[in-house]
Amino acid sequence: MYRARAILALLFVSVLTTNAGGVGIAEATDANRPDQIRPVTTVTSTDDAALIARGDYLAKAADCAGCHTAPKGGAPFAGGLGMASPFGTIVSSNITPDAQYGIGAYSYHDFARTLRGGVARGGKHLYPAMPYPSYSKITDDDMRALYAYFMHGIQPVHTQPPATELPFPFNQRWVLAFWNLAFAPNNVYEPRHGRDAQWNRGAYLVQALGHCGACHTPRGPAFEERAYTENADVYLTGGVNDHWFAPNLTSDPGSGLGRVPAEHIGSFLKNGHGGGLVTFGSMVQVVEDSTQYMSDADLNAIARYLKSLPAQRQSGTYEPRSLRARQGVDAMRTGAVQRPGAGIFLSFCAKCHQADGTGKPLKYPRLAGNPAVLAADPTSLIRLLVEGGQSPETAGGPPCEKMPAFNKKLTSEEMARVLTFVRNTWGNNAAPVTTHQVTALRDGIHK
Ligand code: HEC
Ligand code: HEC
Ligand code: HEC
Repeated sequence: MYRARAILALLFVSVLTTNAGGVGIAEATDANRPDQIRPVTTVTSTDDAALIARGDYLAKAADCAGCHTAPKGGAPFAGGLGMASPFGTIVSSNITPDAQYGIGAYSYHDFARTLRGGVARGGKHLYPAMPYPSYSKITDDDMRALYAYFMHGIQPVHTQPPATELPFPFNQRWVLAFWNLAFAPNNVYEPRHGRDAQWNRGAYLVQALGHCGACHTPRGPAFEERAYTENADVYLTGGVNDHWFAPNLTSDPGSGLGRVPAEHIGSFLKNGHGGGLVTFGSMVQVVEDSTQYMSDADLNAIARYLKSLPAQRQSGTYEPRSLRARQGVDAMRTGAVQRPGAGIFLSFCAKCHQADGTGKPLKYPRLAGNPAVLAADPTSLIRLLVEGGQSPETAGGPPCEKMPAFNKKLTSEEMARVLTFVRNTWGNNAAPVTTHQVTALRDGIHK
């Protein structure tokens, strides 16, 4: 539905102006000529070294490597990762300091304009798959540190990633100039009065570098994030991207963070485990590539900021002390349950998640009271069940554990039943999952 609306919105703009000519992508030439490899500039001053080290930290907080590194051992920052968008697959650029295929020729001004305005050196408009609307809020000091790191802290890689080839009208990059005018914010983060330094640090990390809203804020008809700050109620209330639903991060006590204490949010971001929750789906990469490297002070600031967001878009509830919840737990213990989905749960899921839904600490997530399980939109739960998953591997966290894929073991109807069961047992109350939702998602991901 969104896709159709986006096409209409963009077509509308593109018929208004004729033949403005998209900016082409350079032809691929022979890669890896050793004479083209430029040594990393020697850094002598300790000030410079400190600036580069800070840029390294900020690049991790902004997850530049996560999108700019090809899967399966691609050289860091050399681009080539294909990213699904409603318009087609968009391939990330080489952002190593290689003069020909990377950003070696970028001045500081070019760099800042690309990150803040989405306009690359030479005037090429970038698709908002690159989160420049969030990066527009990066402060000048941080931008300089990032620039120092990208110019002097990493090795140039002399390869060209495959070109992005979108169908008309989406290949008309100039249209994005209008998109930017309509949707993209372009102000550096302004600390909010009446809030202390820790809160503002958290807001800055979430809104600017962390670009958390790129996944956690719902998108509008033209793929725009519907808000970029907590001033709007929809901000961080959950969104679907590439067939993963990133849940509500406001204080909704059902499917949001209302019942999750700040320290659990911090450890969830540090090593993917917090109070029995385990990161899954597209959040695994965020933890592995980005948040695990953040300092405790920064993670606490993020948690503090998220906890300050009032509950919005409430859905789902958790009532573990209700009579129904207690009867359900007893029935599961004795195996005397007749509800649809219970048998599947006991046969296929309980050995890891336990019959009472409490999981195993630092191994298998609890499903009872788990906000992600109560999410308004079950997209991520269905996808995880179909494909399986793997908890994140981090420097400080426990070893990673696997959740098996069930696409060969369970039918779509059985998946709907067991998820409905999980969402309505042990005190969990959330909308049922329908077979149609399962088959629609399986069609979407071709599994
Ligand atoms: C969510 C994914 C994502 C993240 C995170 C991301 N980028 Fe990008 N970036 C992209 C994509 C995709 C493109 C190519 C867009 C296009 O072709 O229109 C791109 C393009 C660019 C370009 C343009 C290069 C050129 O000349 O073509 C630069 C520079 C850049 N990114 C730098 C960065 C830096 C620095 C960071 C971290 C602060 C970063 N990006 C983080 C996805 C991302
Ligand atoms: C690439 C998309 C993406 C980005 C970017 C992203 N998230 Fe997530 N996030 C997800 C998905 C999908 C989930 C659901 C799976 C899970 O719970 O691990 C999630 C879950 C979470 C949860 C657990 C919510 C719950 O109810 O269990 C927290 C907390 C969280 N994200 C915080 C953040 C923060 C803070 C940032 C920015 C630093 C961020 N996320 C950036 C996709 C993303
Ligand atoms: C072998 C152990 C194992 C089995 C069996 C298993 N799971 Fe999981 N489950 C996991 C692990 C590990 C994760 C974390 C996955 C990740 O991080 O990608 C997980 C995650 C989940 C989540 C997301 C919750 C969260 O916070 O991470 C749900 C929902 C879930 N499983 C449901 C099920 C259902 C329903 C079944 C049975 C059909 C099942 N699981 C069978 C190990 C298992």
